[in-house]
Amino acid sequence: MSGAGEAYPGESRAALRDGGGLFVTFEGGEGAGKSTQIRHLAQALAEAGHRVTLTREPGGTPLAEAIRALLLGPDNAAGDPWTQLLLFAAARRENIRAVIAPALARGEIVLCDRFADSTRAYQGGRLPDAAIETAIALATGGLAPDLTILLDLPPEAGLARAQARRRGAAGDPFEAADLAFHAAVRSRFLAIAAREPDRVLVFDGTEPEADLAARIGAALATRLAAAAPA
Ligand code: TMP
Repeated sequence: MSGAGEAYPGESRAALRDGGGLFVTFEGGEGAGKSTQIRHLAQALAEAGHRVTLTREPGGTPLAEAIRALLLGPDNAAGDPWTQLLLFAAARRENIRAVIAPALARGEIVLCDRFADSTRAYQGGRLPDAAIETAIALATGGLAPDLTILLDLPPEAGLARAQARRRGAAGDPFEAADLAFHAAVRSRFLAIAAREPDRVLVFDGTEPEADLAARIGAALATRLAAAAPA
């Protein structure tokens, strides 16, 4: 058990950046193709000689994966929206502490499948914004992505894709919500992108997989070139 005075990784954000790491998140609705595209990008970056750490939320560590099972299990064991908010925050804290912060400090590129914008988009309609931002701040200590790839597509298309991928198995409780909920999630993601256009790049998730992978790879190359020391 750590001591009460342990420095939180997010408290030394400047020190994290001394390692030269780049923190990239992938966001989007159900069936947007995040997991596929994140794998393409990880492979392209590794082939270009970069050290890459791949993780996901909720998840990334044994404890956070156990929280994931509670949150996304078919029996809806995760309780009401407030409990869910706190569980997503706890899983995030764990992923940052054990995986994301150490990889950034080693100077790696961290690719994370979902992060705080998913909390804003999915929990956003159900809880006050201030509570959501407080939970995110507690979990992250202020650590935010350098770049976010938002894969945007109509929820009808994404849900159909997610359903086909499951081949008849039940979806998680969030996926099972009605179309109006998923349309609202999409609008909240797009609103975040409109507020933070430098951080959040929006891609058309209906584009063919290879074209999209090439486009995302080019965006990363541009960002890495801009971040490289002169
Ligand atoms: P996925 O990673 O397989 O898409 O599943 C994660 C699900 O959890 C998805 O329905 C979105 C939801 N989610 C939230 O509601 N809030 C969060 O903060 C995160 C990370 C995910």
